[in-house]
Amino acid sequence: MQLTLKFFRFLVAPMIIIIGLTLNSYAQDKTALQQERTATMKILARSMGQLKNASDIADMKIPAIAIASATNKLFNMWPEGSGGGNTRAKAQIWSDKTDFKAKLMDLKKATDKLVSSVDGTDLALAKSAFIGVGRTCGTCHKLYRGPKL
Ligand code: HEC
Repeated sequence: MQLTLKFFRFLVAPMIIIIGLTLNSYAQDKTALQQERTATMKILARSMGQLKNASDIADMKIPAIAIASATNKLFNMWPEGSGGGNTRAKAQIWSDKTDFKAKLMDLKKATDKLVSSVDGTDLALAKSAFIGVGRTCGTCHKLYRGPKL
């Protein structure tokens, strides 16, 4: 009895704690890259919100530039093995690498159009460029983004 209790206290209990901690960190901890990737996507989302609400082309410049620079960063954010259960990145990103890259290029092309449209004075044109960008987000998410965690 005495021995069983000792066994539990000094061996089993710490093991349970260690296993618990490991599972916990596995579920929650993102690598620096994964965190930055999420943050970059959030910049895209925030900027899209600002573009949507803009009633004036001047208000579209800053968010358009933010989208362009976030998009450029995104190109290098998908190294092999950076998916997994603590992210929303689907495995197809790496099995269909060429198509995924093409979807990133579609975002970039749409973004370039947006950036040049906000240099002009045609609000309707800029809004339609904004909608074009939004379409590329949705197309990629449908294929390559998993459900909310
Ligand atoms: C080439 C594919 C692709 C494009 C284009 C793309 N995304 Fe994403 N997005 C993803 C993937 C994959 C994830 C999941 C990444 C992860 O969890 O590591 C994601 C995640 C997100 C998230 C969730 C972040 C979180 O809190 O977990 C938001 C918001 C988001 N994207 C917004 C956008 C917006 C807005 C655009 C367009 C301006 C966009 N994305 C364009 C692939 C894309």
